[in-house]
Amino acid sequence: MFEPSQSLVNPGFVDPLERRDSGVLKWNRYPDGVIPAWVAEHDLGPPPAVVTRLHELVDMRAFGYHTSADDVGPAFSHWTTQRHGWTPDPELILPTANVLQGIWACVEALTGPGDGIVYSPPVYPPFLDVAPTTNRRAVHWPMMRTKEGWRYNLDALGELLEADPGIGLLLLCHPHNPTGCVLTAKELERIVELAHVHDLTIVSDEIHSDLVYEGSTHIPMLTVPGAPSHTVTVTSGVKTFALGGMLCAVAVCGDERLHSAIRSIPVELLGVPNRMGCEASITAWETGSGWADNLLDLLSRNRRTLFDRIRAELPQVGMFLPESTFVAWLDLSEFKTGDHPARWLRHMTGIAGGNGPNFGPGGEKHVRITFGTSAELLDEITDRIITGLKGQEETA
Ligand SMILES: Cc1ncc(COP(=O)(O)O)c(C=O)c1O
Repeated sequence: MFEPSQSLVNPGFVDPLERRDSGVLKWNRYPDGVIPAWVAEHDLGPPPAVVTRLHELVDMRAFGYHTSADDVGPAFSHWTTQRHGWTPDPELILPTANVLQGIWACVEALTGPGDGIVYSPPVYPPFLDVAPTTNRRAVHWPMMRTKEGWRYNLDALGELLEADPGIGLLLLCHPHNPTGCVLTAKELERIVELAHVHDLTIVSDEIHSDLVYEGSTHIPMLTVPGAPSHTVTVTSGVKTFALGGMLCAVAVCGDERLHSAIRSIPVELLGVPNRMGCEASITAWETGSGWADNLLDLLSRNRRTLFDRIRAELPQVGMFLPESTFVAWLDLSEFKTGDHPARWLRHMTGIAGGNGPNFGPGGEKHVRITFGTSAELLDEITDRIITGLKGQEETA
């Protein structure tokens, strides 16, 4: 049923024209001369087996109502056993359309109006929308910049929870987008301890968890002792396998109580995943381990290249080597970027990055650059940033 070859398709080459013609958002927001590095989506496409499976479904005209969602939980559990040593019970896994839907469902099911939702800016921008769109209260727990890189500040979380008993839910970005910070076992244990003391629900967004580099390890929140009674993990294969348009994700509930709370949302409101998304995710999770290893090798080389070149050739740009994700968080505060650093960078270099201020407090003067592309395109992205900003520095 599946293609034997699971290697990346032509990893050294990404054809911009083909990407534009395929209609993907990343390649169609800006004009031809601009290289897009703004969405957290890699350009390497899905594993060949996924494409084969989707072809089969098209050939069978398998577009009716379906039962594929039933197989999503077991496939996910197989994947996390293989990749993270974590075997969640498929009975506690709810398929959702995407990760954000899972987050919003948790907030609706597990908190009430006026409850505090705590999260760590600068962070993936939709996190900032959670409280205002659900009549909850946003509580900021800022990321901490240290000499070594960005970290979660556990003491500050303890103080926040002590001072505000109305905080009901922690929305954890694990690993953290945009800084790439990976939480350690000790940090996770402290969060769980705090969750017990303050009766806090943890929603752990682990969408970037497959993309963790040598030197760090992803520890699934639900493997931390004491976590299951307080945790729902939301994740998908979207980042690893470039399936953002396919719509299939999972909400993994730590126990029956959390599961039935989310199940109490009528399915008509909660929604369901798409057939193609289910099949793509199942195929990727069942067969994509070797492919994901190859992807990680390529991304790891890219991250090193970008980091080393920025350090050596443009040290005025602040960058830490990300522990995970395929995004780099660039500090441009040495430059006169104005209040829209991504637009400024685009004008200076022809590279479209993510605009730091959209990631909330702490994002000012920053741009997020996606390095999930071919080595060849990454060279061009890096060349353009270095050449464009060196000129700016001389004229500033
Ligand atoms: C931390 C995080 N969560 C969720 C998402 C989006 O996931 P989905 O498209 O499944 O809602 C992203 C995408 O960039 C992300 O970085």
